[in-house]
Amino acid sequence: MIQIQELKKSALKEISAAGSLEELEKAEIKYLGRKGELTLILRSLKDLPVEERKKIGPLAQQLKKELEELFNKKSEELKTKTYNLKPVLDITKPGKKIKIGHLHPLSKIEEEIRNIFLSMNFSVVEGPEIEDEYHNFDALNIPKDHPARDAWNTFWLKLTDYKRQTTNDGRKLLRTHTSPMQIRYMETHNPPFQIIVPGRVFRYEATDASHEINFYQIEGLMVGKDISLANFKFIIEEFFKKFFGREIEFRYRPSYFPFVEPGVEVDIKFKNKWLEIMGAGMVHRKVFESVKYNPYEWQGFAFGMSLERLTMIKYKVDDIRLFYSGDLRFINQF
Ligand code: PHE
Repeated sequence: MIQIQELKKSALKEISAAGSLEELEKAEIKYLGRKGELTLILRSLKDLPVEERKKIGPLAQQLKKELEELFNKKSEELKTKTYNLKPVLDITKPGKKIKIGHLHPLSKIEEEIRNIFLSMNFSVVEGPEIEDEYHNFDALNIPKDHPARDAWNTFWLKLTDYKRQTTNDGRKLLRTHTSPMQIRYMETHNPPFQIIVPGRVFRYEATDASHEINFYQIEGLMVGKDISLANFKFIIEEFFKKFFGREIEFRYRPSYFPFVEPGVEVDIKFKNKWLEIMGAGMVHRKVFESVKYNPYEWQGFAFGMSLERLTMIKYKVDDIRLFYSGDLRFINQF
């Protein structure tokens, strides 16, 4: 019994003296561990005569419970104490710079282009990247087996994978240009109107510094009464003046696209070099017929340009593949 009382005294002392969780744990092992002092006493009870066992047993059990409670309490105390001791905020340290992201150069330029056209009363619309043969080709006066189809190397989607989606509009494909949105827009809207269509397009081609298998185009379409190429020239020259922020020299070359007549290619002079910048022309009467507009009543112009091309000129980037490289050394320069 004396032993138990002594043990209690020293245990209480050690608990209250413990200044850290490690110290407390050492004390706990010393008394309550597998070979702890109290544990040994409890284990030796069975060797005592019955009378003594009856007296000492409950005392030892009682002490065990008490000590366990005390250890737990102290441990909680120490935990909150160490937590509070940790400096949560050291206001004397220099601040941490938080990195914030920014728009991709292509997104930036696209936004600029949208805003310029919005300021000229154009609307911005978007369309599906998965197209069908009808909208991407036939309705644009590029019938099946027409050699002009070769100008757009096409990613065809496997019929079996897209069976449910195939309709009278032919096979599914990844749109090769944004021009199918000319058709979709005219199918659902009446003229007059003027729109641009920014969007991603896909070409089944080898990549190099100026070719990617996917890139972005900005399509333009204006339909009204008495619209002519002169209107196109004005709009597009205004646009480029605003885009580059200065006077620009333009050159118009006759060209061929099945969905325009006449067709032109527009070049701009940049650092004394002529750069081809877009295809354009007057909407072909066959296109108007596909969407059931009367070609004697309505005229329009359409144009298509590559967002990457404009961005490369404006930011002096010499390899289109950089835009999709995910290389932060490139991206962070913008
Ligand atoms: N869709 C054509 C292309 O991808 C560009 C274009 C658009 C040409 C509109 C004329 C009119 O090459």
